[in-house]
Order: sequence, then structure tokens, then C-alpha cells
Amino acid sequence: MAIDFDLIKEIKSRADIVDVISSYLPSVQKKGRNFVAICPFHDDHDPSMQINKEKQIFNCFVCHSSGDVFSFVQKYDKCTFEEAVRKVCEIINFDDPRLHKKTYVRPVDQNLVPIYNCINELQKLYVYGLTTDEGKVARDYLDNRKINDEQRAKFSLGYAINDGKMTIEYLKQKGFSLKNIEDTGIALAQTSGMADHNSGRLIFPIKDQNGQVVGFSARRLNDNNDEAKYVNSPETKIFTKGNILYNYNLAKQTAKHDGFIYVVEGFMDVFAFDTIGITSVVALMSTKLTKQHIELLRRLGVEIRLCLDGDKPGQEAMMKLMSQLDEANLPYRLVSVPGEIRDPDEILKQDGEEKLKSFVTTLVDPFNFAINYYQNISHLGSVDDRKKVVAHFAPTISNMKSKLEQDDYIFKLSEVTGFSSGAIKEYIRDYVKSSKGSSEDSGRSFEEYRKEIDNEIPKEMRRLANAEKLMLGQMIVSKEAVDYFNQNIKYFIIEDYRILSNFINEFVSANGDIDPSLLVSFISESEVPNKDEIVSLLTTFSFEKDKVFNPQIIRDCKSAIVEERDRISSRSQLRQALEGKTPRDKARLAGDYIAYTNKNKNKAK
Ligand code: CTP
Ligand code: MN
Repeated sequence: MAIDFDLIKEIKSRADIVDVISSYLPSVQKKGRNFVAICPFHDDHDPSMQINKEKQIFNCFVCHSSGDVFSFVQKYDKCTFEEAVRKVCEIINFDDPRLHKKTYVRPVDQNLVPIYNCINELQKLYVYGLTTDEGKVARDYLDNRKINDEQRAKFSLGYAINDGKMTIEYLKQKGFSLKNIEDTGIALAQTSGMADHNSGRLIFPIKDQNGQVVGFSARRLNDNNDEAKYVNSPETKIFTKGNILYNYNLAKQTAKHDGFIYVVEGFMDVFAFDTIGITSVVALMSTKLTKQHIELLRRLGVEIRLCLDGDKPGQEAMMKLMSQLDEANLPYRLVSVPGEIRDPDEILKQDGEEKLKSFVTTLVDPFNFAINYYQNISHLGSVDDRKKVVAHFAPTISNMKSKLEQDDYIFKLSEVTGFSSGAIKEYIRDYVKSSKGSSEDSGRSFEEYRKEIDNEIPKEMRRLANAEKLMLGQMIVSKEAVDYFNQNIKYFIIEDYRILSNFINEFVSANGDIDPSLLVSFISESEVPNKDEIVSLLTTFSFEKDKVFNPQIIRDCKSAIVEERDRISSRSQLRQALEGKTPRDKARLAGDYIAYTNKNKNKAK
């Protein structure tokens, strides 16, 4: 169900684009009349995204992501327009009965529905399994690990009965096909006597960000080291391990309030945090941090607190994760207590809640963590290794604002590496010089990018295209220009311009006047297939500086457009085709013709 456009207008009048984007991106800052931010839609280092508060639109001059507040959320959360509208309402704490007119169902791929149904049924069965006589072994295990009833319910823990064939039978009786069952990832249909491979294990359901179960991790209940400790769902149509952070669905609600999110290795660590009252925690279910994980974390807009195991693999992984987070430009600190090699769950079990609380709040910044790390590894012997350490820290140190702070770090680095402070200072000076040189060509100007786009238009069309574009620019700022267009120009030949002008007309007749930001929502809500491009076109035009209504420009545009149209349609083939057609059809045909001749020309080359 489409959301009423009047409601969209109202939401928009309440949702300031700067505030909403700031809730996603910590890097938003004021610069001149605009706001700028590190663009999350490409690998950005300097802030390339501009946000215009007056016009309520944003635009990245590097990757051209652009639009209004809803376009941002849509792109960021990879969701539909309607979902974006609802998310914005959540962010600004706005509610309206019209949002609830029909129950809102998250659009899912219809092919996946039976798999979700099947996995939900299975999840219920596992939860039931934990209450059965046979499930006592799992309950005892949980008792022993001090996971209370509340936690068992909160994390929907279960138990898979020993008879794995019976589980399959049960699902078949519920009406699921072998294919559906196989698609949940618990068994292979090809194997004769298909059976649940989780049988006899404790079940941790793995949920996606909306709380939908998408897979399972099943822990062995004995201490027979010959069996795998955890059996995990394979990759299925609904489960990709690298896309999931365990407990994100619950943590996302508290993280924004708490201002932080802990990242730990395993389920048991999540439960340990829960025991001491911290719910803003997610588990990697390994030590790998994927791109998708990073995006999930970025979305929370809070400090990330890495807390992997204190053992060597855990600490090494933290070093790796640090460079990933640096790369992604996310703020983070690390839990680090020198000499502590236990994981949070073990600390809780052996030393109790207070000890764990003090452990998880012992946070260090990346620099100090890395220094400690290098100090603790003994093989920092060769000059090469020691040079690498200096190189590793050069960017951080060179970015430090305070000279005193810089000096302090250089001193520590000198202690760790054995190089003199003077030599390190010099290294950093050289580093700054060389990195300045390389960053110069990364900042291509907005104009250059526009030119690149314009080059896609065939040469013979450039004058026409420019005139049409200028005219469109006028139409975006003034209703007078829209009226003038309707009386004197009537249609554009360049297809995207034509689509945009149609939208402008529709919008003005419905709303009386022109408003670029609302127009973006209007287009986003439509069914036009290339609406993203149209939105981007509109936003880029609106961003061009100091667009004001100018009657002279409009008259010049008209003459140029009329002249060019005459020139183009004087070609005999086209003239014939255009005879007797409505202006709209004429435009479409002329556009098609140009595109056609252009394509053939390119082929001939
Ligand atoms: N893991 C896994 N398969 C394994 C070992 C670990 O999938 N064979 C994943 C699990 O998601 C686990 C996480 O990696 O939660 C961290 O591993 P580990 O530290 O070994 O597990 P713990 O959480 O400490 O589990 P336990 O305390 O029950 O041993
Ligand atoms: Mn453990």
C-alpha cells in the first residue's frame, strides 16, 4: 500500500535531513552553508557528501548518490521507499494512524516464504524440545553454564531431539516438501534416510536483523572433542553467515541509547554480557569481520568496542579488525587488559560479575592497543619488522591535532621499536609530504564529473541537451518557468529530461508549486523504472549553485531548443515519422531516433 502523499509531506516537514543523516553518520559537520559528511556509498576518505539543509537534499559529488531524506535511508538500509518512510518516522519519533492503515508486511521474495515457514516451524520444535524429558540434558547443560530461564527465552534457545529422522517426519507432516526442508539447511534431501544434522545438540537460532530465524548453530553437549563443538547451518537461500551479526536484532535497539556496541566472538560471550546487564553486544561467530558486518555496525552510529578473546588468535584478529574499521572510518575502542587471555564467558564463570564488568570497561584506543600488542610479541627483532610498526602508526600520529599528544605517542613508539624519537619524527614528516602529493588527484571537481556525464550525450545533441537542461534547472526553481515550458516548449527530447519534466508537471498540478525535495519523494514513490537516475538528475541540478529564476535564460533556452528541434527533425526519416503525432509522441520518437543513430554510429566505429 502506498503511503498517502500528504502524510509524506507532513513527515518531511518534521524530519530534518541533517538530523536524520547525522543519526546514521557520525561524520556530519557544518561547512559553509552546507553540511558535509564522509559518503557511505563509496570508499570515501575526504567528506564528499554534501547535505543542503535549506533544500533538504544531499549529493555526493564523487559517486553521485543523491536525493532526499528518504532516498538516503533507502540507499543506506537497502530498503524500499515505504520502509524508508517508516524508518524515518521511527528516527524522529513520529507516529500517525495512516501509517498503520494496513498491517505492513515486509516484502519478501515469494519463493522464500515456504522456507521461512518451514524454519519457523522447526524453531518452534526445537524450543519445545528443550522442555521434553529428553531435553533435560540440554537444560542441565544450560544450568551448569548459568544461563537462566529469562535468557533461554530471550535468545530462543532450543534442543534438537536425538532422533533426527523424526524431526524430518514432523516437518513433512506439517506439509513441507523435502526441498523446503533441505532449504532450511538442516539436512540433505539426497541422503537416504534424511535426518536433522543438529540432533542431540543445544540449539542457538541465528536471527537476521529483523529477528527472523535464518539458521542455527548447534552446540555439542558432551566434552567429546572428536565431535565438532558447533555445527552451523550451511549457506542457504536465506542464510549467509557473513551477513549476520548474532544478536543484532536485539542490540540495535539498545545500542543507540547506550552509545556503544560491543563486538565479541561467540554466543556465550553475548550471554555473559547479558548477565551483567549489557545488551548492546553482537557476536561475529568467528573472528572475521565482513563488509556487511561493517555496514550493520555503521548504521548504529555508535562507538564500536572490540572485545575478542585474549588469546593470541583473538588479539591478532583485533589488529586485523582495527585496520578494517580504520578503513571504514568508524569510531572504536578495544577492551584490553594485559595478560588476560580468557574470554568474557570464562571471566564471568571463574571470577564473577564485578570482575567481568571491570574487564569490559577497560577500554583503550587503537594506538595504545597496537603498542601493547607489539610490545607483547617477542619476534619484533628485524629492522624490517620494526619499520613496519612505525609505518603502521604513521597515519594515526600524523593526524593527531595536539603536538603534545603526538610527542607522547612518538616516545612510546620509540620505546617499542628501538628507533630514536628523532628518526620517527622525520619518518612521519616524510609520510605527511608523500601522502599530500597522492591525495591531490583524488579530489576531482564536481564540474569535471558533470562534464563526464554530458559526454555521454551525442555531439550533435549537445546544444539541445544543454538548453533542455538549463530549462529544467529553471523549472526546478520556479513555477513560472513550468508554465512557460507548458506554453512554449511543451516537451523535451532527451528522455530523462522528458521524464523529469513530466514529474514536475504532475507535481505542480497536484501541489500548486514546486519543491525539489518533496519532488524527490514524489518520484521515489512512483513506478518509473529508472527513478533513481531521475532523482539523481534532479538532485544534482538543485545542487548547482545559485540557481535562480531568470526570464532571459528561459527565452534563450526556448530559441535554442526550437532551432535544434527543427534541425534534427528536418532529417527526412524523422519528419515522416513525426507527422500527425502528439507532442509527447514526437518527443519520444525523436529521442528514440537519436539514440538509434547514435548506437549505429558507435557500432560502425
Ligand atoms: N565457532 C564455530 N565452530 C567451532 C568453534 C567456534 O562456529 N567449532 C563459532 C561459534 O559461533 C562460537 C564462536 O565461534 O560462538 C567463538 O568460538 P569459541 O570461542 O570457541 O566458542 P565459545 O563461545 O567460547 O563457546 P564455548 O564457551 O561453548 O566453548
Ligand atoms: Mn567460551
